[in-house]
Amino acid sequence: MVTIAVASESADEPRIAVSPDTIKKFAALGAKVRVQSGAGLRSRISDEAYKAAGAEVVSRADALAAADVLLAVRRPSAEDVKALKPGAIVAAMLDPYSDRDGIDALAATGASVFSMEFMPRTTRAQSMDVLSSQANLAGYKAVVDGAAMFGQALPMMMTPAGTVPAAKAFIMGVGVAGLQAIATARRMGAQVTATDVRPATKEQVQSLGAKFVAVEDEEFKQAQTATGYAKPMSPEYQAKQAELVAQHIKNQDLVITTALIPGRPAPKLISRAMVESMKPGAVIVDLAAERGGNCELTEPGKTIETPNGVKIFAPLNLAGTIAVNASSLYAKNLLAFLDIMFDKKEKTLAVNWDDDLIKGTLVAKDGAVVHPNLQSKT
Ligand SMILES: NC(=O)c1ccc[n+]([C@@H]2O[C@H](COP(=O)([O-])OP(=O)(O)OC[C@H]3O[C@@H](n4cnc5c(N)ncnc54)[C@H](O)[C@@H]3O)[C@@H](O)[C@H]2O)c1
Repeated sequence: MVTIAVASESADEPRIAVSPDTIKKFAALGAKVRVQSGAGLRSRISDEAYKAAGAEVVSRADALAAADVLLAVRRPSAEDVKALKPGAIVAAMLDPYSDRDGIDALAATGASVFSMEFMPRTTRAQSMDVLSSQANLAGYKAVVDGAAMFGQALPMMMTPAGTVPAAKAFIMGVGVAGLQAIATARRMGAQVTATDVRPATKEQVQSLGAKFVAVEDEEFKQAQTATGYAKPMSPEYQAKQAELVAQHIKNQDLVITTALIPGRPAPKLISRAMVESMKPGAVIVDLAAERGGNCELTEPGKTIETPNGVKIFAPLNLAGTIAVNASSLYAKNLLAFLDIMFDKKEKTLAVNWDDDLIKGTLVAKDGAVVHPNLQSKT
């Protein structure tokens, strides 16, 4: 029988890689899950709930010992991976572009290591797309937390005592997180505008009832790569964009920034001068903080207040602050991914190394780093 290990995550990671629901489904595939005692508590999953679903709840060492598969949220240590069966499968969000020595150490264990962030954004892979499942929750939570920090009402309210104006929300970057931020801000009654450099986003923004604000020149028309991501924009475009943002941002109450380009530092879209032009009480939630942030003043992991009274909130793991939902969706993503590795008749692992989803996510195998995006050491 295939054994799947799940160990507790680090102190700053409340999410967990399996849920009672996925444990039952793994059993149907022919796999037994061993969970470290207490590993689910920060996602409100008790040891009893795991046991009731059929998992073995054991010590960390017993969970890892000679397991065929290790499922994790964050990159596991090489030490933990060495405890597994030689050549075991490891799947996690490796944050593959950071700490290259750590990736090399994982590769050296000989395990087959998969980075869930590299999942191709194809229709077949949708159920395994951890970036989407987590970004969607982060986009929602950014608006909820930002609204709480704003300390004023979001919707327009007409009352006998007078009218409260609608707050203005500006969403920068309209990927998965940005779209959810627009939808959430609209539901909460804000007047919403949004910007992106990919032309496809214009219609998406408008279909959510928000106004699209962008520099729509020739470069904008070509800004999307074949894989659906944004290209880095030229200095000329950036200058035009900065002018537009400077005009727009000074009237905004809540700004949510989500702009990213894979494998690169986050583009700086909000300068110090722009922040200084904003109203006291305005809030910026910088979801790109993990990649350095979209705002020049962002301090990743912190909330700061500028001398002119603008709060800049730069969370590093916003999905983790709603760990119950984030773990449930992440666990389902991993189940869907593991599902393609099983021989359903024999109830054993039978990985097709030529499958595009396997190839797309495989970072290390047989002792070597194999992913094309990680071939040049930086
Ligand atoms: N299965 C699927 O088909 C599937 C699933 C999810 C996402 N996608 C697509 O993948 C792509 C990436 O989505 P994501 O949420 O991971 O994006 P992301 O997190 O990489 O980036 C967020 C947004 O920032 C924007 N951006 C980058 N540079 C910018 C700049 N200088 N100014 C303004 N905006 C900037 C990007 O265009 C993107 O919309 C999108 O095309 C999305 O539709 C496809």
